[in-house]
Amino acid sequence: MVFLMRNCRAGTRIRSRSGKLTGRPAVPVSTTVRVPQPVVHAPFDEHTDTMDSQRRTWLIAAGAATCVAGGATAVPFVESMEPSAKARAEGGPIEVDISQLRLGEKMTVLWRGQPVWFLRRTPQMLASLHLTQSLVADPLSKRMAFPTPPWAQNQWRSIKPEFLVVIGICTHLGCSPVNRFTPGPQPSLPSDWQGGFLCPCHGSEFDLAARVFKNMPAPDNLPVPLYHYINDSKILLGEYKA
Ligand code: FES
Repeated sequence: MVFLMRNCRAGTRIRSRSGKLTGRPAVPVSTTVRVPQPVVHAPFDEHTDTMDSQRRTWLIAAGAATCVAGGATAVPFVESMEPSAKARAEGGPIEVDISQLRLGEKMTVLWRGQPVWFLRRTPQMLASLHLTQSLVADPLSKRMAFPTPPWAQNQWRSIKPEFLVVIGICTHLGCSPVNRFTPGPQPSLPSDWQGGFLCPCHGSEFDLAARVFKNMPAPDNLPVPLYHYINDSKILLGEYKA
């Protein structure tokens, strides 16, 4: 079983918050990644900055009918989130162990063919959401194109502020945004960047709650899947319970 991922490479562009792009336009490229199921080291961070590369990011693929053991470091995640055969067969809810996710780290779980991100935000990351509140298009996620569950219609877009859980697929044309967690001026981003995600295909920018900034190609924030906490260290992805 293979997972095919299309990705694009951003060109070196500088953008002011008000709008204009300068420099070389983005150069889309297409990459096909053959990923053995269910565990691989993540290809999603290949365009991230230096700080991001120091963080561990995993792609843990669930839902495969045939299981192949992956890298040794990823095994604890896999064992803890291994869905039942029935859940795998039906694409049903799966348990995700977040106990080993450290502050500032993000992991990705492939569920129903979609990358679901789990980001454990630092206090600084959470504070940045106050600064982006007036800059994002839909601060409380009221838009209905990609409806956000009522319990995530808040500034953090999550049940617990510390943990962001979103589907990592751009609401414009379906590319996978990349991490841009380091604040400050950098290529392709505005000078007042507070950290977030950048979609390399057409330049949509998202803050650390996956809220799209104003005047971007993407029409909506990144989708929030149904989930709830089984306990402090486990999330059931695919089902909500109050
Ligand atoms: S697909 Fe993300 S900006 Fe176009």
